[in-house]
Amino acid sequence: MRTPFVAANWKMNKTLPEALDFLQTIAGKLPAEDDVEALICAQSLFLSQMMALTPDEPLKIGAENVFWQDQGAFTGETSPKAVASLGVDYVIIGHSERRKYFRETDEMVNNKVQAVLRNGMRPIICVDETMGQRESNEKVHWVVSQVIEALKGVAIEDAHKITIAYEPSWAIGAAAASAKQAEDGCYLIRQTVADMLSDEAADQVRVLYGGSVKPTNQAELMAMPNIDGVLVGDASLDPDIFLQLVNYQ
Ligand code: G3H
Repeated sequence: MRTPFVAANWKMNKTLPEALDFLQTIAGKLPAEDDVEALICAQSLFLSQMMALTPDEPLKIGAENVFWQDQGAFTGETSPKAVASLGVDYVIIGHSERRKYFRETDEMVNNKVQAVLRNGMRPIICVDETMGQRESNEKVHWVVSQVIEALKGVAIEDAHKITIAYEPSWAIGAAAASAKQAEDGCYLIRQTVADMLSDEAADQVRVLYGGSVKPTNQAELMAMPNIDGVLVGDASLDPDIFLQLVNYQ
């Protein structure tokens, strides 16, 4: 059984005081970890303070990106080794905003997935499609090829550490995909993992949907057989809404 997963992606929002206020507001109100895994991914510069404030909460803190080299002359980059040294569990890799604004390629995404695993953390690999690709029926190839490229060289034994988020760009900060559209994308991702690794590995990988998730559409999405959870941007910035999302059951 895959534990339901509600992951927040704060993106480049919140200052340190705002982040800590948020955590104080939600303290003591999160579901048990066995029922729902709750995660907040935030800017790397205050992950350690966030973790220090929540040692006993059933809440994980994650990073939104890392570089693919562990250390060296890469001014301004974030080392996966350094992030792991904070005790961080999860790192978002290959978000569509990074692919679009920072020109991240499938090869870079794959290098980052390997760096995250090498440093004992777990990647949340984002794969997307544009509305143009959906309308011209290229979506199958697009999502499948991003999964194949991202997982190159990943060992079957590491499958349980992998989360893949289906995040169609056309649904981010806009109208959400329908539950059926989201399920179709997530099913396709799981089948791709099965073809690439094994059926057992595909059963272990968690697949999330992301794109305009709110408390009003979350339950329908998470009831789908291949959707194990949600990756939430805007709606996760408000502590009351975040609490509704993690306590959806
Ligand atoms: O990583 C999260 C996605 O970009 C979704 O963002 O919930 O604001 O549409 P959104």
